[in-house]
Amino acid sequence: MTAVAKPGSTKFQVDLRRHLRETEEDRDLTRLICEIADASKYIINSIRTGDLGLAGTSNLYGEDQLALDVLSDRILRKRLIHSGVVANILSEETTEIIKVAPDGKYSVAYDPLDGSSLVDVNLAVGTIVSIYESTNIFQPGRNQVAAMYILYGPRTSLVYSTGKGVHEFSMNQLMEFTLDRENVKMKPSGSIYSPGGQRNLYTEGTEKYVRFLEEKGCKLRYSGGFVPDINQVLLKGTGIFFYPHLRNKPNGKLRLLFELNPMAYLVEQAGGKASTGRQRILDLQPQGIDDCAPIFIGCREDVEKAEEFIAQFG
Ligand code: F6P
Ligand code: MN
Repeated sequence: MTAVAKPGSTKFQVDLRRHLRETEEDRDLTRLICEIADASKYIINSIRTGDLGLAGTSNLYGEDQLALDVLSDRILRKRLIHSGVVANILSEETTEIIKVAPDGKYSVAYDPLDGSSLVDVNLAVGTIVSIYESTNIFQPGRNQVAAMYILYGPRTSLVYSTGKGVHEFSMNQLMEFTLDRENVKMKPSGSIYSPGGQRNLYTEGTEKYVRFLEEKGCKLRYSGGFVPDINQVLLKGTGIFFYPHLRNKPNGKLRLLFELNPMAYLVEQAGGKASTGRQRILDLQPQGIDDCAPIFIGCREDVEKAEEFIAQFG
């Protein structure tokens, strides 16, 4: 791939479809990724102008669904079905697998609008997607063939990987995603930390690890939205995000299929690491739709240090 994006220039913009074509991506996977990118245009429109109220339903985790969660889910589902290449779909907002076509090439797990409770205070939110070339979604994350997220912040950006590095795009005035950066890489060790969960519920290992990060001079950077928090660590190439095992929640809060696997795939593709504190996220065998796991994700050495503290102190 020789195309180089020139930030701010409209003369030579590489859009998402062209990027996928030039990296010789499979045509069906290209189609699928482009359909998801198209869906995000409608999702962003509903975030900007839609109803902020409750939908009157709750999801598998007992959380109240917002009208926006339900709408984003419907937008994405329709597009995935329309793509013609999908076998099975699993959304964080539904309780079961949607069987689309038995001969479909790909299966997709997604979180249509992560962090949706932040929309009413106008903070950034995102869509997260995990893709398998199989009818089976219950596989370790290392078998993903692609992962991506779309971040709805002051700008809309899209980050994807098909196993050939991590690439960042942003939406232009024509609502097309144009290339900002190819082959994003993370530094070995970082300078920021983004800690989820309540600190007085941290185990001794995590508490000691936080003190280690503070002494190292790391700055706290936490928005409460998984997509913007990961985006900051990944694209600045520095630091660590964690949502650890808590004293009252040994598996943390974040969901393996919809949140952890796709982000772990992207961060590993950028040279970073993603661990539960005891093992690689991408090696976990999913047991059920609602599996959760603790996560330490970001710069390689910072994740390894977390593993050391947890091995020693739990
Ligand atoms: O999906 C759940 C989520 O909203 C993530 O976006 C975010 O990282 C996390 O919850 C924040 O949880 P907490 O408020 O417990 O730190
Ligand atoms: Mn979520």
